[in-house]
Amino acid sequence: MRNLEQIKRLSTPSYYYDIELLDETLHALHKEADAYGYHVHYAVKANANPVLLKRISRQGLGADCVSGNEIKRALECGFPADSIVYAGVGKSDAEIELALEQDIFCFNCESLPEIQVIDEIAGRMGKKAKIALRINPNVDAHTHHYITTGIEENKFGIYLYDLEHVVQETLQRSHIQLTGLHFHIGSQITDMSVFRGLCIRANEIQANLKEHGLILPHINFGGGLGINYQEPDRQPIADFKAYFATFARFFEPMPHQQVHFELGRSVVAQCGNLIAKVLYVKEGKNRRFVILDAGMNDLLRPALYQAFHQMENLTSNLPEAKYDIVGPICESADCFGKDIALNATQRGDLIAIRSCGAYGETMASRYNLRDLPHCAYSE
Ligand code: LLP
Repeated sequence: MRNLEQIKRLSTPSYYYDIELLDETLHALHKEADAYGYHVHYAVKANANPVLLKRISRQGLGADCVSGNEIKRALECGFPADSIVYAGVGKSDAEIELALEQDIFCFNCESLPEIQVIDEIAGRMGKKAKIALRINPNVDAHTHHYITTGIEENKFGIYLYDLEHVVQETLQRSHIQLTGLHFHIGSQITDMSVFRGLCIRANEIQANLKEHGLILPHINFGGGLGINYQEPDRQPIADFKAYFATFARFFEPMPHQQVHFELGRSVVAQCGNLIAKVLYVKEGKNRRFVILDAGMNDLLRPALYQAFHQMENLTSNLPEAKYDIVGPICESADCFGKDIALNATQRGDLIAIRSCGAYGETMASRYNLRDLPHCAYSE
């Protein structure tokens, strides 16, 4: 890891962001997306830290928000309102009003009842709401079941069997302008054939709508590009090239149709690491526990999804030993990894939990009334 001397001075537990790596990632993303004229909205849910958001908005990305507060944060951090897309199965009236007041780029709508409410509120406000229909394309992302969203058993999106009806109903609404189609099938997807499947399904859906005389100005494929959690140093930047090339090759846009994406994890995951201090090393019967000052309240992913994060001892060069690495919370799930090889570890050592920039800080809580983790940035 870069900047070790700075890291050794941090208060712990702390999210530490490598701003240089973020910039390099944004540069690579731009290069690959621009090659095809694609529009990218950064998924704020992955990391809403204002320092990162300002950096990302300055690079010209739009924002993908899932709450009124995310919309407010995105605006505060410099994302233009007309670059904001707003998704979510449960938008409240107040959130819809806020988005309408701000004239965002578009609502990604997930059900007919939601469209009816947006129509009513827009009518009351004398506005016309731009919406895209989020379609559940029934394409399996083959990723952890908690982060698979595009199959029919999920709550997300409009189901294919219902699409024609929803389109007809939407076109009747006088305060709604249907401007696009939206998909998002899951997260941490590294197998490009999954995205090829999505392209093929999108082609079929668009061909069908075209037969009914409907051609929409934009299509949005959501996010989902995965990163290398196993070897963050070997692949610090996600494979944007392969990702966008898959869409360029297999998706057939309608004439003049804009193609949009909403990437979160692949933009910010690798630039963030959680730095924790070893409080105790405890000998169990057949195991040895490293007890950190960071817990599942600081980083929930291992407890919630059994997610793997690389871990390393930044302050020891001793021969390796195996440990169960746990936090201080009163839950057995408060475990970052079992049988993990670390350089021999003692009280006071600093442990880096790698690839935590996405869905780390944003999912932190105050469980056990613990303080939220600190944040620091490379100098
Ligand atoms: N668009 C929509 C509609 C989404 O629901 C998501 C993520 C994204 C875009 C961004 O997807 P990404 O490019 O980051 O894969 N907390 C979980 C991940 C949940 C993802 C939720 N939706 C985790 O820590 O793995």
